[in-house]
Amino acid sequence: MLALTRFYLTTVGKKFVMAVTGIFLLGFVFVHMLGNLQLFVGSAKLNAYAAFLHGNPKLLWTFRVVMLAAVLWHVLIAVQLTLRNWANRPQKYKVVKYREADVSSRTMIYGGIFLVAFVFYHIAHLTLGSVGPVFDAQNVYGNVVAGFRVWWISAFYVVGMVCLGLHLYHGAWSLFQTLGLNHPLYNPLRRWLATGFAVLVAGANIAMPVAVLAGAVK
Ligand code: HEM
Repeated sequence: MLALTRFYLTTVGKKFVMAVTGIFLLGFVFVHMLGNLQLFVGSAKLNAYAAFLHGNPKLLWTFRVVMLAAVLWHVLIAVQLTLRNWANRPQKYKVVKYREADVSSRTMIYGGIFLVAFVFYHIAHLTLGSVGPVFDAQNVYGNVVAGFRVWWISAFYVVGMVCLGLHLYHGAWSLFQTLGLNHPLYNPLRRWLATGFAVLVAGANIAMPVAVLAGAVK
């Protein structure tokens, strides 16, 4: 137990927990995207899917509690590692040159902050119905379409999805490294998987507001 706590307090230990909670979050965004793609099939399909989820409160709440714990732990460690990083920053030089990898990981925290803001807005919009143009708990399809017809709501979602894509790319890339799957021979495959996953999830999510604004989904 003591050894585990000691490991957790190290940067490597925290990165490991970040990778594990990150895997849960990658799984969530993928499954959520698959569910939401039913928007393209029609209102009956998407509404039936939402009714199934709400008709199983035990399943829904177990899932919500696990996901919330994963998000909170992931964000807590991100803040701790960023503060640790800032504390160790070299102070001697006014202009500090970062390696390419450092620059992309430094932007993770800002993209991550935007994503948290996005999720708050998104839950208020489509789960609680407190900010969108209309809300009917029985008509999830109608809520999504009415929301995305408002151009600035769609624009906000698209910006959120670009942040999500960058975050997923860097997260998936670092995940392999943290779990020790880092070898020059496999790095092209690793980059390909990280890029493919990020483009797939962000692209499919962007297609939804774009399709509504273009009139292809009514
Ligand atoms: C265009 C993209 C998206 C669409 C159309 C969409 C749609 C929805 C809908 C309809 C709900 C409410 C479901 C219900 O109450 O039955 C929902 C809930 C939610 N979405 Fe999304 N979503 C999108 C992207 C995302 C992304 C990228 C994230 C995370 C980064 C996310 C996180 C959540 C969360 C945390 C909830 C609350 C789940 C719950 O009530 O337990 N969504 N989404």
